[in-house]
Amino acid sequence: MMKRSVIDITDLSREEIDGLMRTADDIIENPGKYAHICAGKKLATLFFEPSTRTRMSFEAAMYELGGAVLSMTDAATSSASKGESVSDTAKVISCYADIISMRHPKEGAALVAANAASIPVINAGDGGHCHPTQTLADLLTIKREKGRLGSLTVGLCGDLKFGRTVHSLIQALSRYEDIRIVLISPDELRLPDYVYNDVIVKNKMKCTQTSDLLWALPMLDVLYMTRVQKERFFNEEDYLRLKDSYILTPEKLSHAKPDTAVLHPLPRVNEISVAIDDDPRACYFKQVKYGKYMRMALILKLLQESGAVKEDV
Ligand code: CP
Repeated sequence: MMKRSVIDITDLSREEIDGLMRTADDIIENPGKYAHICAGKKLATLFFEPSTRTRMSFEAAMYELGGAVLSMTDAATSSASKGESVSDTAKVISCYADIISMRHPKEGAALVAANAASIPVINAGDGGHCHPTQTLADLLTIKREKGRLGSLTVGLCGDLKFGRTVHSLIQALSRYEDIRIVLISPDELRLPDYVYNDVIVKNKMKCTQTSDLLWALPMLDVLYMTRVQKERFFNEEDYLRLKDSYILTPEKLSHAKPDTAVLHPLPRVNEISVAIDDDPRACYFKQVKYGKYMRMALILKLLQESGAVKEDV
């Protein structure tokens, strides 16, 4: 038995991601089979940064697996505010829980926690670095909406610089065949070189960069919209200038294919007009639901691997 953490989407092989999607599909079809599988086990959610979806979907996931949840929702009310380190916090929580999901504003914090903890740690977002369980939600959404994860043209639009979900999604898509990436952003918010070179160039992915959403829209099978990440800007003026760079309206969406899937990790600010919510191409609320099932599948897998939960379902 081994303790295994998921900090980056590359901690999971393509085969494992495909296996998690099969488990999530099975959970959707047969929820009763999983309703007590984690009985007696505890998930600790340590959130040093705000969240609605990720924290609550982890918690809902553990409850739906029959387990219990210990929740730290605000660093200000924890001993982090007295100066306790992430390592010490992870060691302490290892005495109470069987698995941790952690969000932190600093890149690398989840890895620090994983190295200190004696139980599995799942990165629920570390600064502008990555957000692997959002990527699992994104992949299941694309798979269920498009019926495949290969042979797709995927447009990523908005804040590609600070948008950690974009970095993890590109990394995951690089494992699938015949993916064409279209990067749509203002110059200042372009994908960081380390992601472009280490993922897109290294994996010889087909890729186009543009600032023109309308030009890109007709070719896309998937449009992944993102919010401009206010909390990562050093300068409010820059944020105000860039925040409404892209607003998807029904008129703009009329340039897309009739079956383009529109995703967004949420929260949304202005990037997608609410008038699009009832369009059959709008998948972002389904994406929220799929996130819970993928987190159930991941919690179960890591608890089975650590020996905390029996292997057979
Ligand atoms: N998508 C996402 O991470 O949402 P939250 O910030 O609400 O968790």
